[in-house]
Amino acid sequence: MDSIVVTGNGTLSGEIPIAGAKNACLTLMPATLLSEDPLTLTNAPRLSDIRTMTELLRSLGAEVQSLQDGQVLALSSHDLNNLTADYDIVRKMRASILVLGPMLARAGKAVVSLPGGCAIGARPVDLHLKALEAMGAELELRDGYVHAKAPSGGLKGAVVEFPFVSVGATENALMAATLARGTTVLKNAAREPEIVDLAQCLQKMGARISGEGTSEITIEGVDRLGGATHRVVTDRIELGTYMLAPAICGGDVTCLGGRIDLLAAFCEKLDAAGISVEETAKGLRVTRGNGRVRAVDVTTDPYPGFPTDLQAQMMALLCTAEGTSVLEEKIFENRFMHAPELMRMGAQIDVQGGHATVTGVEKLRGAPVMATDLRASVSLILAGLAAEGETVVSRVYHLDRGYEHVVRKLSGVGAKIERIKGA
Ligand code: UD1
Repeated sequence: MDSIVVTGNGTLSGEIPIAGAKNACLTLMPATLLSEDPLTLTNAPRLSDIRTMTELLRSLGAEVQSLQDGQVLALSSHDLNNLTADYDIVRKMRASILVLGPMLARAGKAVVSLPGGCAIGARPVDLHLKALEAMGAELELRDGYVHAKAPSGGLKGAVVEFPFVSVGATENALMAATLARGTTVLKNAAREPEIVDLAQCLQKMGARISGEGTSEITIEGVDRLGGATHRVVTDRIELGTYMLAPAICGGDVTCLGGRIDLLAAFCEKLDAAGISVEETAKGLRVTRGNGRVRAVDVTTDPYPGFPTDLQAQMMALLCTAEGTSVLEEKIFENRFMHAPELMRMGAQIDVQGGHATVTGVEKLRGAPVMATDLRASVSLILAGLAAEGETVVSRVYHLDRGYEHVVRKLSGVGAKIERIKGA
């Protein structure tokens, strides 16, 4: 298994290109299942999760071509010759459940393996299933699979009120509703930019959707959807992650393509910590002068709140802040697995349930550490950039799920970082 070696090496300067959003691409790809016509996605990120979704869609009979070094995906679901999403692929990635709504809406039937447990909490899919049931689907859970059947005339429009906000359940229901008979109203829907991106792509395909980006989305079902070409929105999590690199070790870095509106709550916290963020024609310019950053309290929330997917990386920054910060995790119950690893580097963190109290230290020290999930792994790399000596992050396969060319992007702004094969 590969590892990444980072050596704390002073300040960073230059530009970092930001890719298209993994989480948007993973919901745009299954949208191909809704139509017989081709769907072309541009600005796609080159990641192992995208390859897993490619494998899953191909197993269902879709054609997926990766062009221009993976940045363009040409998808076509003219023939769906298999309506079963197999456990062997689904278990690799939870987002696989997003094929359920589209397959059911288009073909009237779908069998999808339940995604396995996940290291960051229980993460059930009950809200996805309840929304589809409200649209008339008959569901049966058998042998670890969801067997879903639409009523004879297809799914029916319905009012679906989510008891709490779920990104994935909103996406599944939104896609299914585009081909349902009548009107669907999704209440307490997720408002994430990735949902807006999905709605915009579906609109290009001919879907009638309004209210995307608010907590009430209305969908008038249509008989069929056509093809489209769509550019994947900027990855706000990759953006926030790289904004933290100069925040953590000082310097002046512009994240190309970044926009404050994608990350307003996060930018406010950086400002409170003493980091300057400026929106320029090229993207977001982040500068940190001399001296320590200030401690800030952070609570994760659905969009437009502080994203749970940036909590681990923000913790890495706060480990060396002046004062004590409290991080509260409200989305996933077990998402502090990076804390013990950061403590191996000299951080002072006390985790009690959903709260982590971080008492800033002057300096972190390099150490061998282990990546436990995608965002945790990159938080250890960020911490390594600021630490004295060498940090070796093992199990970096987690990182490959969500960050393309990490070594190239960070070394491009002056970081001392390399990937060691098979170590
Ligand atoms: C998506 C993102 C993930 C991000 C998360 C929260 C993708 C591929 N993944 O995940 O990176 O961390 O949003 O912003 O886009 N829940 C249920 N029942 C359900 C669905 C969810 O109880 O049927 C719970 C989850 O356990 C969690 C909360 O709802 O506590 C939010 O989860 P959700 O927004 O659905 O996350 P994902 O869509 O899985």
